[in-house]
Amino acid sequence: MAKRILEPNTTLYPVAVVLVTTGGANPNVFTCNRIASVSSEPPRLALAARPNRYSHALIRASREFVVNIPSPAQQTLSDYLGVVTGRDEDKIAIANLQLAPATKIKTPLLADCPVNIECTVEREIELDSHTLFIALVQAVHADESLLDANGDVDVARARGIVYDCGTVRERPTAKFNLDDLRRNVKGA
Ligand SMILES: Cc1cc2nc3c(=O)[nH]c(=O)nc-3n(C[C@H](O)[C@H](O)[C@H](O)COP(=O)(O)O)c2cc1C
Repeated sequence: MAKRILEPNTTLYPVAVVLVTTGGANPNVFTCNRIASVSSEPPRLALAARPNRYSHALIRASREFVVNIPSPAQQTLSDYLGVVTGRDEDKIAIANLQLAPATKIKTPLLADCPVNIECTVEREIELDSHTLFIALVQAVHADESLLDANGDVDVARARGIVYDCGTVRERPTAKFNLDDLRRNVKGA
C-alpha cells in the first residue's frame, strides 16, 4: 500500500447525513453531517454547527434539537434543507414536511423520517469555525419495520443517506439550482 501524506482534514467515512429540527414551537430544520455518538451512559450525541446558521441561534436559544435520520428517498430534501436558510424562507412549509410532537422536548420530529432522536443540549464548546453542541438523548423513535428481534434498529434495513465524500468541506452550493430543488422537494 503506497500512502501519501495529506494536509490535515476531517476525512472519515462513511459520513451520515441527518436532518436536525430545532427551535421549539417555531421550528426550523437543517442538514448536518458533523454529528457523532460520544457517550453511552448516559447516551449523548454531539453535533457541530457554524455560528452563521440560523439553526445555530435556535439551538442556543431552545437548548434542544431532534436528530431525524432520513431515508435514501429523502436525498433531494436533504440537499434542499442544507443549501437554503430558514432565515429567508419557511423550509418546512415549502418542503411540505409533516411534523409530529416529541415526547420530552418542544421541538417536533419530522414524521416521515424513520428514526428521530430527541436531545437536550448539555454543554457547548467553541471550535473556531463551528460550535460543538453536546447533547443528552432523551428519547428515540424508530419505525417498527426497522427493528430487529432485540428491538434495536437493524442498520441493514435502515439504510440512511451517506455523504458521498469522506473529506467534508463547505458545501459547493453553486452546483445546486435552488428553483429546481424547491420544485422537487414538494411532497418529497
Ligand atoms: C450534506 C450536508 C451536510 C451539512 N452539514 C453541516 C454541518 O454539519 N454543520 C453545519 O453547520 N452546516 C452543515 N451543512 C450546511 C447547512 O445545512 C446549511 O448551511 C443550511 O442552509 C443551514 O440552514 P439554516 O440557516 O436554516 O440553519 C450541511 C449541508 C449539507 C447539504
